[in-house]
Parts: sequence; C-alpha cells; structure tokens
Amino acid sequence: MGMSATVHPRVLAYLGRALSLELSAVQQYMTQASLAEAWGDREAADRFRHETVEEMQHAERIVARMISLGVAPGASQLRTVDTAPTLEGLLERNTELEDQLIRHYAEASRFCQQIQDSENLSFFEALLAEEQSHGREVAAWLADQQGPMPVALARAPR
Ligand SMILES: [Fe+2]
Ligand SMILES: [Fe+2]
Repeated sequence: MGMSATVHPRVLAYLGRALSLELSAVQQYMTQASLAEAWGDREAADRFRHETVEEMQHAERIVARMISLGVAPGASQLRTVDTAPTLEGLLERNTELEDQLIRHYAEASRFCQQIQDSENLSFFEALLAEEQSHGREVAAWLADQQGPMPVALARAPR
C-alpha cells in the first residue's frame, strides 16, 4: 500500500496546483530570458535564467514529494506567459506571479496546520519562505528599474 492512503486529498490537490504554478514560472522566466537576450540585455537574461533554474528546482521537489506520497505527478494547465514590451513591465508581471505562489503556499500551509499534517506543513512552509524571498528580490529589482521619482523635475520653476 502506498502512503497516499494517509494523505488528505486536498494536500495532493495543493501539490498538483503547486506543480502547475512552478512549471508556469519556469515557462515564464525561460521566455523572459529569451526576450531579454533579444533586447540585448544580457544581465537581465542571466537573472531570468537563474530564476528559471530555481523554479525548476521547486518543481523537482514537488515531484519528489508526490512520488514519496505514492502519487503520479500531473500538472494541469500551465498559465499563459505574461510578457511586456519593457523590462519594468516584465517585472511587474513577475511580482503578480510570485504573489500567486506566495498565496498558494500560505493557503496550503494553513490547511496542513489545520489537519495537523506536520510533514507537509514544513514542506509547504519552506517553499513559502523561498517564494517570499523571490517576491522581495523581484520588488527590489523593479524598484531599481523605476529609479527615483522625478520629483525635482516636477517641482522645477518655470
Ligand atoms: Fe518557485
Ligand atoms: Fe519564485
């Protein structure tokens, strides 16, 4: 008998949805790396490639967890890739994607806490902490792109 008999079906659903979101992030960051490369922005392309690898490692951890619970991974539909004509626009889209991952892992963690499934709780909490850190990184990168508000220009006397 596999361990799946002892796992709440909603935990399996959270894992399946998590896999879809992580693979969506892989697809999105991989696409953005190619876009940035096409724009000649090598630095941004490298950063997006690095993020692609991190999200791929998250997907890998989810697959391994599902296997250990005795279930076959089956991501459903991937999100459509969100693109934009500028790096700033891409980063705004990415803030939304990371927020979605954060909300998902927060909800999965709350549920595991409710049913006292401590093993899956720590699994989801670790991913939650990593996505929160991604969220902060994307926000900082976005702030760098936006630079200081043009206050001096706005206030210049005419
Ligand atoms: Fe992730
Ligand atoms: Fe992330």
